[in-house]
Amino acid sequence: MESFAGQIAVVTGGGSGIGRALVQQLAAAGCHVALCDISEPDMAGTVELCQAAIDRGVRITAHRCDVASESDLNNFREQVAQQHGAAHINLLFNNAGVSGGQSFLRDNREQWDRVFNICWGGVYLGCRVFMPMLLASERGHIINISSINGFWACMGANVEHTAYSAAKFAVKGFSEALLVDLRKHAPHVTISVVMPGHIGTDIAINSHKLWLGDADTMNAQQLDSVRERWSSFGADAAQLPDDTVRELLRKGGEDFRDNAPTSAERAAQIILAGVQQGQWRILVGNDAQALDQAVREHPERAYDAGFMQIGPAV
Ligand SMILES: NC(=O)c1ccc[n+]([C@@H]2O[C@H](COP(=O)([O-])OP(=O)(O)OC[C@H]3O[C@@H](n4cnc5c(N)ncnc54)[C@H](O)[C@@H]3O)[C@@H](O)[C@H]2O)c1
Repeated sequence: MESFAGQIAVVTGGGSGIGRALVQQLAAAGCHVALCDISEPDMAGTVELCQAAIDRGVRITAHRCDVASESDLNNFREQVAQQHGAAHINLLFNNAGVSGGQSFLRDNREQWDRVFNICWGGVYLGCRVFMPMLLASERGHIINISSINGFWACMGANVEHTAYSAAKFAVKGFSEALLVDLRKHAPHVTISVVMPGHIGTDIAINSHKLWLGDADTMNAQQLDSVRERWSSFGADAAQLPDDTVRELLRKGGEDFRDNAPTSAERAAQIILAGVQQGQWRILVGNDAQALDQAVREHPERAYDAGFMQIGPAV
């Protein structure tokens, strides 16, 4: 894809982090964008950041849509067709995601299933629902956001991440299988699977909010579940006062965002450059590159203590 100018892109999870940076950079490059999210205020923030491009005639539309819901996605597709006056799109970024459901054994099933249904279901349904519009384009490209957890299923030997990893492995496997399928049956539509390392976004803060609400209003049971999780990493957390738990949780989310080796803006640049160069496999960040190499060289040791720890546990 030589230029994004004049193309139509769909970006899920465009209200924050990597999705927001993708929308901004696509808009700056003259690409029309339809973004969706579950947070309308966050989407409004993204649209505001694109004002200069909008003033130049770039069309940016925002749509409330839960990517785990096929009917929401069907509505989203109808709105895109109507508001962009087109039967096709050129770019589909299946980016929306959330962390949680860490332990298959200890966490509740509702949370586990919701994480899986957003991180995997959102990508699967996004491809299903928007495929007719991609097929109708002269040139289409799908970008599925997986993770380092798409090839390494934890955040360290003692930091379980089961729902998210299962979903991200599914995204990677499906994308690679779809690549072969598209080459055979629809070669004008191509695909990239993206595996970011630790990127400085609000994903930890957004995910904590989703499962625990605001740190200030967490109840005794929620505070205990946080203490229990930290204790499972070997921390001496059982006796931590409520206010300390709240403060550490806030600080953990901020540290995840502020002390990452790669910013959301840089991640979006790497992804868009990979798309333009036709890379089907895009690793984002030196940490992702190093981990990919380590897992390939020492697959049997990948889940041993001391193998690697990427970023703080979220
Ligand atoms: N930040 C990282 O370190 C990192 C690493 C690897 C992969 N990723 C992946 O990158 C993608 C973007 O994450 P981010 O770090 O920018 O997080 P983020 O929390 O900053 O942004 C994610 C956006 O998705 C939205 N969202 C969540 N559930 C949704 C749903 N059901 N329907 C529609 N929108 C929904 C959120 O509201 C949010 O605006 C995710 O798929 C994530 O798993 C992130």
